[in-house]
Amino acid sequence: MSGILPEHPMEFRELEERARHAMSPSVWSYVAGGAGDEHTQNANRAAFAHWGLVPRMLVGADRRDLSVDLFGLTLPSPLFMAPVGVLGICARDGHGDLAAARAAARTGVPLVASTLSADPLEEAAAEFGGTPGFFQLYTPTDRALAESLVHRAEKAGYAGIVVTLDTWVAGWRPRDLATSNFPQLRGHCLANYTSDPAFRALLPGGHPDDARDTALTWARIFGNPLTWDDLPWLRSLTTLPLILKGICHPDDVRRAKDYGVDGIYCSTHGGRQANGGLPALDALPAVVEAAGELPVLFDSGVRSGADIVKALALGATVVGVGRPYAYGLALGGTDGVAHVLRALLAEADLIMAVDGYPTLADLTPAALRRVCCGT
Ligand code: FNR
Repeated sequence: MSGILPEHPMEFRELEERARHAMSPSVWSYVAGGAGDEHTQNANRAAFAHWGLVPRMLVGADRRDLSVDLFGLTLPSPLFMAPVGVLGICARDGHGDLAAARAAARTGVPLVASTLSADPLEEAAAEFGGTPGFFQLYTPTDRALAESLVHRAEKAGYAGIVVTLDTWVAGWRPRDLATSNFPQLRGHCLANYTSDPAFRALLPGGHPDDARDTALTWARIFGNPLTWDDLPWLRSLTTLPLILKGICHPDDVRRAKDYGVDGIYCSTHGGRQANGGLPALDALPAVVEAAGELPVLFDSGVRSGADIVKALALGATVVGVGRPYAYGLALGGTDGVAHVLRALLAEADLIMAVDGYPTLADLTPAALRRVCCGT
């Protein structure tokens, strides 16, 4: 804050616009862009307008409780930061992962730390304060490396492992292809690899001194197209809560439960991976129903407190944002991230107050009406 005016935008469109100017064109392409003509990315957002919260009066909503239990932890709010790889390029000092981790400490909003970070996972964890953090695993083809990453996350105190299933290969992203972005991004996201003995063992010389060798080795092992047959191995990697990210079909939820996973993460990767898909919000109700008692993490297209409230009412246990906090980071580092998270939560809290839903338990599908049909 400077004086009485907030330093950073209060409204998403302005946040996005200001972030665009703060970023170089190639960073902007990478963060803001999506797959194909970005239909799914846009549909993720549009889906929220198809639902409206029905106000309830006289319920005594002057006090709200936004706390939520997740894997035995009590979180102060149902918001989290989705894993954003190459976050360092959004930060002036290159340490975007540390800045996001510090914002988690300040706000109590957990960070799901990406495998693709500029800061090793241990250094991010050291900044979490009392806020739990989760580690997102991109499963490499080399099993020893996967095991090592998970064990490092356990040792560093992470509270759960999120395995992303939809990104063993990068999607068709015209903006990144047009700016030839992928090779240059690589230099900003390999800290977890180069700090890992299992990765170094794969390098020709055994040391990450040669950038070309490192990049080639990384490209060779990055993505493992997992199948259900790999689930027992994945489950065996950790006793921490295991969460599968990118699940949008109820049959996949049921199958995942058979393998003993602890949480389902319904997401279309913010529309970055495959175009032409169902908006994540539209996939959510069936995923929630199939998940039963399992917690459901949700992201893709959340831009406001109202969006958070709607996703909760449709059954999400906790709701994540990706691009919004990356924009906050570009504008104001840790302060900018904390600003974005606090603004989202303040709006959600006020909606719950005004519309008469004082706790998360009050937010059920009965609180919503479908606003427009025909989609
Ligand atoms: C992502 N996302 C992502 N997901 C993941 O599991 N691991 C990762 O490293 C990344 N990297 C990444 C980079 C950038 C720049 C973005 C914008 C997103 C996807 C992310 O976790 C989340 O699913 C989406 O960002 C949610 O959509 P919104 O909030 O950006 O619309």
